[in-house]
Amino acid sequence: MNTLSLCVKQIVLGLVILFSFQTLAADNLLKVNTDRAKFNYQMFCQGCHTPDGTGGKSVPKIKNTIGYFLQNQVAREYLVRVPGSANSPLNDQLLAEVLNWMIIELGGESVPKKMQYYTVDEVATLRQQPLFEVVEYREMLVKKLSVK
Ligand code: HEC
Repeated sequence: MNTLSLCVKQIVLGLVILFSFQTLAADNLLKVNTDRAKFNYQMFCQGCHTPDGTGGKSVPKIKNTIGYFLQNQVAREYLVRVPGSANSPLNDQLLAEVLNWMIIELGGESVPKKMQYYTVDEVATLRQQPLFEVVEYREMLVKKLSVK
């Protein structure tokens, strides 16, 4: 084998390794364990939000609407800072997972085509600033969303 083809081989191998690491990293970030997320939703959220996200009198409908909040940064942050999320007993990783799951599973058409998943770090930071007086804050946010 001549030096050139050896060199090409090494570059190709290098690229393969590089790309497999990249997809691994991306996977870790985005991976939603559907069964676990669903279980946590049932345990900690569903009591108020209802199994399919329809909600109730004082609990807003998540079904087919939650994804609209990903349209801007402040609204995106709201989904984590809302007391039900921020003060839940779930750790940061499981909260990120359940939020991503709620959006994918219950968000329907409201979910943006290129949804940006919540990361664990993002959730960890945001939940340290829980919201109070949520009702008016939410109304203010909803006015700015384009909702179908
Ligand atoms: C005790 C009832 C209750 C529980 C339990 C609860 N929530 Fe909520 N959630 C609410 C209410 C009420 C709102 C509306 C905002 C407010 O008044 O806090 C809300 C709003 C939200 C929103 C914003 C949706 C919107 O359209 O405004 C998200 C996201 C959310 N909750 C996530 C969760 C998650 C995740 C859990 C479980 C870990 C959870 N909630 C558990 C009552 C609850």
